[in-house]
Amino acid sequence: MCGIVGILGRGPVADQLVDSLRRLEYRGYDSAGIATLEGAHLARRRAEGKLRNLAGRLLTEPLIGQVGIGHTRWATHGRPTENNAHPHATERVAVVHNGIIENFRELREKLQKKGAVFETETDTEAVLHLVDGYLAAGVNPVEAVKATLSQLRGAFALGFIFAANDDILIGARNGPPLAIGYGDGEMYLGSDSIALGPLTDSICYLEDGDWAVLTHNGATVYDHRNTIVQREVVKHSASTSLVDKANYRHFMAKEIHEQPEVVGHTLARYIDMATERVSLPVDLPFDFREIKRVSIIACGTANYAGYIGKYWLERLARLPVEIDIASEFRYREAPLGEGDLAIFISQSGETADTLAALRYAKQHGLHTLSIVNVTTSTIARESETMLQTLAGPEIGVASTKAFTCQLMVLATLAIAAGKARGELSEEDESRLVHGLIEIPRLMSEALATEPQIDKLAREIAKSRDVLYLGRGTSYPLALEGALKLKEISYIHAEGYAAGELKHGPIALIDENMPVVVIAPYDRVFEKTVSNMQEVAARGGNIILMTDAKGAAEATIESLVTIILPDMAATFVALVYAIPMQLLAYHTAVVMGTDVDQPRNLAKSVTVE
Ligand code: F6R
Repeated sequence: MCGIVGILGRGPVADQLVDSLRRLEYRGYDSAGIATLEGAHLARRRAEGKLRNLAGRLLTEPLIGQVGIGHTRWATHGRPTENNAHPHATERVAVVHNGIIENFRELREKLQKKGAVFETETDTEAVLHLVDGYLAAGVNPVEAVKATLSQLRGAFALGFIFAANDDILIGARNGPPLAIGYGDGEMYLGSDSIALGPLTDSICYLEDGDWAVLTHNGATVYDHRNTIVQREVVKHSASTSLVDKANYRHFMAKEIHEQPEVVGHTLARYIDMATERVSLPVDLPFDFREIKRVSIIACGTANYAGYIGKYWLERLARLPVEIDIASEFRYREAPLGEGDLAIFISQSGETADTLAALRYAKQHGLHTLSIVNVTTSTIARESETMLQTLAGPEIGVASTKAFTCQLMVLATLAIAAGKARGELSEEDESRLVHGLIEIPRLMSEALATEPQIDKLAREIAKSRDVLYLGRGTSYPLALEGALKLKEISYIHAEGYAAGELKHGPIALIDENMPVVVIAPYDRVFEKTVSNMQEVAARGGNIILMTDAKGAAEATIESLVTIILPDMAATFVALVYAIPMQLLAYHTAVVMGTDVDQPRNLAKSVTVE
């Protein structure tokens, strides 16, 4: 999660760029750099480490250009060295990038064959050489960027400036956020409105897939089809706090949409992008080969993340796993094996039940590992090992992005455990990691179901009860989908293992009962279809969440079929979580509830 800025100014911009980068340091700070147009030439200053190193450098080697871009980096591809620091530049173009270019290897090979010389270990450099190649062939900057964007896969925000061209700055957004700022004869680009706070109060947030050409007189915004579009310019107070809703109506909506970025960011912390291997950021104080049993302990949504983690650890590492609700764990006096592992999952890191369970586990000689979002929290501090989710601040009371980031950490942990226990080969690891690298993009595709889900929400809002069904990891996801709906829309909802339906809950089915069936086309798909058949035969209204293959195979009439991207089966929960969240969100909006602060709830529950 790097931060990017750009300025088309009327005076020297270096100080403003550095100031904006300072406001973006929360997004990463292992190196920083700026590039400006000095006369007709591009010049750069970059420095390893904190931004102050770059600022110090600029004192002795100043830049006076009036057009520039800047970057503060959180390394994904390539070590945090000065050479890998952004901006990357040729004599024709300079670029800053936040995100991951998934197909950079393929692009790099192609470009090298054509003679491009790569100087860094970054994925960004492939973008640079693509644009540069077009410019060298005489293509103008706008067309060069347009042609380049059509070849990129992944989640990215980009900013470009060009030699001998002092009236153009180009930005592109595919996943990570990017905002345009309007000044008085000046224009700005930034990862968020916080970066642009001191420069302007007129902000336009690009939509996913947009790219924009800025000149001193304004901006032309294109959508992903390269059609010119109008995007609203909103007013922001200069004192924009560090967390704002951007142009979303609720924090929850913003946080749902942030997931491709923050999940990608979390992934980048847990794998080595260059080798596509899992690389945990800490040394574990235990050996997975010696662990006989794992207990996963958490509350609410975090507990459901743990439930999905259980399926992964059992399957990939052949480890027996118990899942516990924190408030039950401590009092049921279960036998605990000394030296075994207890995993605690918590967004806030302050949940009293989870904390009490952690202390209990420590007293009983278990290894304790926590997966937390707030690294200064009590659970983070008191556990033997802490793995961070990089979701950023989650403000909406209903957990969304923390949940998927928890899943991402659990997925990498399960692969690490599988490797350590000799259950996974290097090829298995590569295949699984490769699947994870695709998740942020697939999540963006899943977000595209929003208009359809918005419509569906109007039907759901008329219901008194809703059932959610799934098998495999889609079962805990059904529990999570039901929790999301009930907590923010106040509609009663239940999640069930699809196979369990016939053992009782089927009595509830009638024509007034919507049944959300989570059924990716996997090895249990046919069984889930049989359960759907049972619902259909009793007049239940089925809402099917599946992929294209599943939709073709499921011959049952459903009220609505939401088609999600095709993907490898193991980690589908990360992507199918998105329509669950969107359905709850839009239903709550239709019902007119207080989405971000639903009644009776609190973000951090510090009582048992
Ligand atoms: C539901 C939700 C809660 C929390 C639970 C645990 O949307 O947010 O169920 O997941 O209260 O909170 P943390 O993760 O802070 O321990």
